Amino acid sequence: MTTITQDPNWWKTASIYQIYPKSFCDSGDKGTGDIQGIISKLDYLQRLGIDAIWLTPVYQSPMIDNGYDISDYYAINPDFGTMADFDQLLEEAHQRGIRLIMDIVVNHTSTEHQWFQSALGDKNSPYRDYYIWRDPVEGEAPNNWLSKFGGSAWALDDATGQYYLHLFAKEQADLNWENPQVREEVKQVIRFWAEKGVDGFRLDVINLISKAQDFSDDHQGDGRRFYTDGPRVHEFLQEISQAVFQQYDSVTVGEMSSTTLEHCQQYSSLDGKELSMVFNFHHLKVDYPNGEKWTKAPFDFLQLKQIFNHWQTGLNGKGWGALFWCNHDQPRIVSRLGNDKQYRVESAKMLAASIHMMQGTPYIYQGEEFAMTNPGYTSIEQYRDVESTNMYDIMVHQQGVKHDEMMAILAQKSRDNSRTPMQWNRERYAGFSKAQPWLDIADNYQEINAEQAEQNYDSVFYFYQQLIQLRKQIEVITTGDYLDLYPDHDAVFGYQRRSQQQTLICLNNYYAQETECVLPSDFEASQASYVLGNYQDLPQQVSRHQVLRPYETRIIVLQN
Ligand code: GLC
Repeated sequence: MTTITQDPNWWKTASIYQIYPKSFCDSGDKGTGDIQGIISKLDYLQRLGIDAIWLTPVYQSPMIDNGYDISDYYAINPDFGTMADFDQLLEEAHQRGIRLIMDIVVNHTSTEHQWFQSALGDKNSPYRDYYIWRDPVEGEAPNNWLSKFGGSAWALDDATGQYYLHLFAKEQADLNWENPQVREEVKQVIRFWAEKGVDGFRLDVINLISKAQDFSDDHQGDGRRFYTDGPRVHEFLQEISQAVFQQYDSVTVGEMSSTTLEHCQQYSSLDGKELSMVFNFHHLKVDYPNGEKWTKAPFDFLQLKQIFNHWQTGLNGKGWGALFWCNHDQPRIVSRLGNDKQYRVESAKMLAASIHMMQGTPYIYQGEEFAMTNPGYTSIEQYRDVESTNMYDIMVHQQGVKHDEMMAILAQKSRDNSRTPMQWNRERYAGFSKAQPWLDIADNYQEINAEQAEQNYDSVFYFYQQLIQLRKQIEVITTGDYLDLYPDHDAVFGYQRRSQQQTLICLNNYYAQETECVLPSDFEASQASYVLGNYQDLPQQVSRHQVLRPYETRIIVLQN
């Protein structure tokens, strides 16, 4: 039996695995994943070597947004199992030395939550002030803010004539954090799960909880500047942290939408007053020309390097970031920045190395460890995601975008690209379920699956396994500073990490053509060695002049 270490800083050398339960493993024949399914795969996760699981929401929910619309924070959604199943998962994970991080969604609740049900249509309900209500302005919504899933951010409560705010779907009503009772409820929810022994929390869109209280029209944008990193957000987080996170030594990761480095330095400041670490998404907007997600576009390589440089140098010594390419809201990285055909394996390994050697805590999203791809859906009926179907409606039916063009955009940008069921093996339904899955499986599951990856020592799976181990063996990965070696190179992303003891260089060719670069003149290449690469035949000696093959990655370490 492996036990959990007591080191309070465990998460700085850890790698965390994200599970999207609906698509992970179905223990029965429902076509949707469940908690027993997760338990049945814990040995697999242990073999991969991860330190913790981030479990996306399994609470009671009408599942309009796949669990990010919680209707009861204290109950498990029966589609996923029971509280006893959850307790078993926690215990069995701990027995394998794997920690568990819960997803907490407290910017909003489902409109089916009893608080909202009581508040709806009744201005005198004790729960009315748990949400954000405003009178209409000239018979219309109170302001021009837009929902992140399209359309107005306000919905009308017919019975009272007031509107409530929903930054996401209309079934996700924003909580009023100005109300101290709401903050007490949030603490109680977190305490409940911490008391059960969960090790940490991922906080959904947590930098949106504090809204500027005048709710004025946004004449420059969609309203986000009035609630992103809002006026009281740091105060609220410090209050929650002091009341609960610090009491339970919980590790916390905040999902920060459209944030800034300055705010993230504070959210994740090393004094631990707010959160342990932050997710930011700027590096995943390099294929959003002029900030516009809903376009089909190539990615901007130089911008990608600039963004990493900005965050790596800016957080070093001040805060802590999460390192990630994939999650349940992002397309598969191998299809996005790599090459999911001829160089699927090479490019997936290269992309992995290029973030895992940075400072921060890497997150691996289910299926990424054997390079699952976008499914390439061809019919709108195949999509299930509320954001994708809303955007299809708005762009095709209201804005006149052609169906084919929108299908090409969705094939690149839809969140369903990463939500397709896990490809466990080559059996029917990819070993995910015995029944027709809720979302179509990618056609390539017979070649790309976990079983196949585990049988092949050259697979992406074993490369991830090595990256996870390297973080524990090579100290400079955690502590070193960061220097972008070739900011203007049009194919190589290469950076150097340096601490007192060690220097590490990570070289990555982002393209299918061979390319070259020269190591810095103060780097004693002859004394250095390769610790990992994605081509078999690395030379014995490290030379200053480097020739990188298609999508090649090389990790070089020198003892100072
Ligand atoms: C986060 C979640 C996403 C969800 C949204 C609203 O961005 O990751 O899946 O739709 O918040 O809760």
